[in-house]
Amino acid sequence: MCGIVGYIGKRQAAPILIEGLHRLEYRGYDSAGIAVGNKGRLKVAKRKGRVRELEALEPQKFRGVQGIAHTRWATHGEPSDLNAHPHSDTSGRYAVVHNGIVENAAALKAQLGQRGVVFRSETDTEVLAHLIALLDDGSPLETVVAEALRRVVGAYGLAVIDAERPDTLVVARNGSPIVLGIGDKEMFFASDPAALVRHTASVVHLDDGEIATVRADGYETRTLDGAATIKTPSTIPWKDEAFDKGQFTHFMRKEIGEQADAVRRTLSGRLDTRFHTTHLGGIELEARDLLDIRRVKILGCGAAYLSGRVGAHLIEQLARIPADAEPASEFRYRNAVIERDTLYIAVSQSGETFDTLAAVQEIKRKGGRIMGVVNVVGSTIARECGRGVYLHAGPEVAVVSTKTFTCTAVALALLAIHLGRLRDLSVANGARLVAALQALPDRIAGILEREPEIAKLAGRFQGVEHAFYVGRAAGHAIASEGALKLKEISYLHAEAYPASELKHGPLALIEPGTPTVIVLPRDDLYSKSLSTVEEIRARGGPVIAITHPGERPAVDGLFEVPALEPELDPLLLNIPLQLLAYHVALQRGTDIDQPRNLAKSVTVE
Ligand code: G6P
Repeated sequence: MCGIVGYIGKRQAAPILIEGLHRLEYRGYDSAGIAVGNKGRLKVAKRKGRVRELEALEPQKFRGVQGIAHTRWATHGEPSDLNAHPHSDTSGRYAVVHNGIVENAAALKAQLGQRGVVFRSETDTEVLAHLIALLDDGSPLETVVAEALRRVVGAYGLAVIDAERPDTLVVARNGSPIVLGIGDKEMFFASDPAALVRHTASVVHLDDGEIATVRADGYETRTLDGAATIKTPSTIPWKDEAFDKGQFTHFMRKEIGEQADAVRRTLSGRLDTRFHTTHLGGIELEARDLLDIRRVKILGCGAAYLSGRVGAHLIEQLARIPADAEPASEFRYRNAVIERDTLYIAVSQSGETFDTLAAVQEIKRKGGRIMGVVNVVGSTIARECGRGVYLHAGPEVAVVSTKTFTCTAVALALLAIHLGRLRDLSVANGARLVAALQALPDRIAGILEREPEIAKLAGRFQGVEHAFYVGRAAGHAIASEGALKLKEISYLHAEAYPASELKHGPLALIEPGTPTVIVLPRDDLYSKSLSTVEEIRARGGPVIAITHPGERPAVDGLFEVPALEPELDPLLLNIPLQLLAYHVALQRGTDIDQPRNLAKSVTVE
């Protein structure tokens, strides 16, 4: 998705901005651009394609200590040089970069057109540049920008540069994040802290409806109506090195490999071996409040939603509270009934997914009780929820989630045990599950060491165009995640089905060229799942099983995951499926870290 980065200070802005754009590349984009101010003039360069294609125009050589830059993910108008940001007014004095959508762009365009403005791009953003130019009456830039924004309907994170006000940049936020980075006599800003960590750990998150004046020696924030707001800087917990691939060819592979440590951090300080339960300080709900909960509803998008499905299963099994997960993108539009004794949980790696945020706001509006399970500290969803569990998984750069899928499921397992131990989960079962969670990171590490076995299994996908992934109960959620990973990065058609439903339809599609991956734990549904295997193989379909050690089922390929405890086994069964998708994509030579058409964090509707 779109990204913004800005700098004002004592150094040359262009190299800092270009480096910032590289940091934002992981989010997914289709064009990039930069504007630098110097001696009353703006130098602008923008181009369709990657940041390195923008670099071919040599914007690094632009002189000036004040600038803004952008990576665009097309919404209004195709990806092109002209539609790339920044957008300027007719005179070229002002430039704007913008994330989000100006919903009344057509009406504003018509008004500006009547005043003689000629538009050069198809974007909604260009209206902002012209509007600011027309409204500038010599007031401070933030006053002019605020005046323009009062006429705008829609969502934005934006930054404005004026060549004739060389000591000031202005940023504003309404629905799309902006973070200020505080340096030593220099200031940075970005839509994502990833672009700031190299320079500073001290940040300020703008809130919706806020506008900030940014100067080399500091910043001021106010509402669009001009009332000053007071911000407290916070610290980004991430190290710059976390954004480097190191020895790995892909961030995805690096992040799969980090899972043992990431899970250790999610568990850290949260296991209680005295009362055989878990502690989750951030949920800020007393035991008494938690006892009132009669239902749990988990909301998220993509892999976050699927991780929520694993979590819902755990909560229902361990705490005996009815629980389910639903795509936040569906929930937010269906005028859902909000119940006072339901605990709503928003799950999001980035904490910025627009649909998930909108679901949180809808629940809050209707008086529901909400908490977040989020990776990025200080992100919008985390702040909007006000309480919850941070994953502490470290930054995830690959577009597809791997370590945060696992860590989210682990965080929800912690919650499930916590809720369970307040109710009927016995001391013995609590102790058994806490011990299993303690053992989890080493078990994950053990599976990762056996990567060559999975690379070999991936060879079975050569020449394949379709695959099925099946499983039962939590195994179905794991199968769904396995299929999602495969389609996202290898572009193979992969469909997940409950194993029990296969015979009610998809069996018609089983043939020798269509493999089925089955999640096959040795639980009480094992023999039922074996029947599914036989049904598939009887139709000539090859079967690959992700299963537990024991007497080997008759299948065409198999990977054995060590058994942990039945309730928590899904957390381990997922790991080989991540590696399988990775190796199939590797064989097919796709762009694994930035799959076509996808974005890391979808911050628009
Ligand atoms: C996008 C990404 C997915 C991700 C989903 C939710 O669609 O491509 O990989 O699972 O957003 O993201 P979140 O940050 O809310 O977990």
